[in-house]
Amino acid sequence: MTTIGLLTAGGDCPGLNAAIRGVVMRASAAGAMVVGVENGWAGLMEGRSRLLGRDDVRGISVRGGTILGTSRKDPYVHGSGLASIKPTLDATGIEALIVIGGDGSLRSGAMLASEGLAVIGVPKTIDNDIAGTDVSFGFGTAVQIVTDAIDRLTTTAEAHNRIMVIEVMGRHSGWIALHAGLAGGAEAILVPEVPYDLADLSARLVARHRSGRDYSIVVVAEGVVDPRGDAVTAGADILGFERFGGVSMSIATELERLTGYETRVMILGHLQRGGTPIASDRILAARLGVKSAELALAGKYGVMAAVKNGEIVAVDLASACAEPRLLPRSLYDEAAWFGA
Ligand code: F6P
Repeated sequence: MTTIGLLTAGGDCPGLNAAIRGVVMRASAAGAMVVGVENGWAGLMEGRSRLLGRDDVRGISVRGGTILGTSRKDPYVHGSGLASIKPTLDATGIEALIVIGGDGSLRSGAMLASEGLAVIGVPKTIDNDIAGTDVSFGFGTAVQIVTDAIDRLTTTAEAHNRIMVIEVMGRHSGWIALHAGLAGGAEAILVPEVPYDLADLSARLVARHRSGRDYSIVVVAEGVVDPRGDAVTAGADILGFERFGGVSMSIATELERLTGYETRVMILGHLQRGGTPIASDRILAARLGVKSAELALAGKYGVMAAVKNGEIVAVDLASACAEPRLLPRSLYDEAAWFGA
């Protein structure tokens, strides 16, 4: 009987439970045992795990978060790599480890694979920035949440003839901003991949309001630079990782000064990661979970389950997360046709 370890690491995202269910259902059907590691890499470093069977994953796909818990603790940043998780691997009998994570957790998985551990990756992130897959689960739900927020913020902006600046997550990429901005009909979308010009944008917004439109929506990705061109961070978290958030404040101040229109800011923050996953994220997560279990059962390690042209395939883990997947300029240019 194969013993498969399973963990969810890094920031949570909608769809994690559907992926866990996919792994457990497929592995159980093959008679394999699944050891669920609690709180991401922290559980492997500190020896916290429990067995997961079919009964444990019943009905969980609809739930946001992760039944296993997660954390940003990392075996290389806060430990000594394989050596720091070896005692738990030995105690639990884990032979292959499925890591459901974003780029950072997958990179650590790849490093453990290079130290000899049997690792399979599953990409998850609302940021959609993992290079080795066409799309990650969690992204679609985040885009839907932001789109719903834009719809609501539009009516209050319109009532006051205001500019509404909406800041969204995404770290160094503008996938969420671009997609939600397009879906919500934003007048401008600022992303880290493309420089912006607030004087030019302000002129366009003023012309728009003067022509009778009583609101403007400006979507700002959290990773853009501020109006002076400086990177903005919210400092380091308690584990030492860089935090984003707040750049929209100085952008809004400058827009208000340049346009003369009242401007308000909405930072959507963790709302974008909470709650029920949309159906397509549940389906994608379930399929990737099943695929990762099949890879573990087949003894194929150092790979990541991924989406390529609509198919679920295995790609090399190390190269899948080596560089972030940034927004292509062509997508940005398409969306620009709908701007102010
Ligand atoms: O990587 C996912 C993400 O939601 C980013 O978009 C965001 O910057 C970050 O995580 C927030 O992390 P935390 O939950 O640790 O504050």
